[in-house]
Amino acid sequence: MSFLEKRISMEESKIKELIKYALDMRKISYTPYSHFNVGAALLGKNGKIYTGCNIENASFTPTNCAERTAFFKAVSEGVKEFDAIAIVGGPDGAEPEGFCPPCGVCRQVMSEFCTDSFVIICAKSEDEYVVNTLPEVLPDRFGPKDLLD
Ligand code: THU
Repeated sequence: MSFLEKRISMEESKIKELIKYALDMRKISYTPYSHFNVGAALLGKNGKIYTGCNIENASFTPTNCAERTAFFKAVSEGVKEFDAIAIVGGPDGAEPEGFCPPCGVCRQVMSEFCTDSFVIICAKSEDEYVVNTLPEVLPDRFGPKDLLD
């Protein structure tokens, strides 16, 4: 178990593995406008890792964040249940100096597919990261169940 065993039940080795994938994905981000490269690695309950990078657009608004790229890749392959995501972001050509928290739109996409135990890992490196659960970063979230009330 990781040192966070009570709040988060995830092996530290799995956290580091996800971060490694996210770091690799930063290298293929398409960011000609912001030059801010983000990589993400999403762990499915099936044990598979779905990666994503941010993909920008000259028209700006079609830009897709790394997290959503990872989610949409997984969902488009029929996978809809997830345990965790690792996110690494920072200016092009440098090691990240800060953590890259998921934007509000990505948090809402997580809310569509993930339960309260979903783990969000924001990392600078394999050794420097913070871990939160979905309700910690998106309290009182609107989800599919709210349409049934
Ligand atoms: N971005 C992500 O990919 N994920 C986030 O959680 C925050 C922002 C991207 C979008 C855009 O390509 C660049 O970072 C600057 O906002």
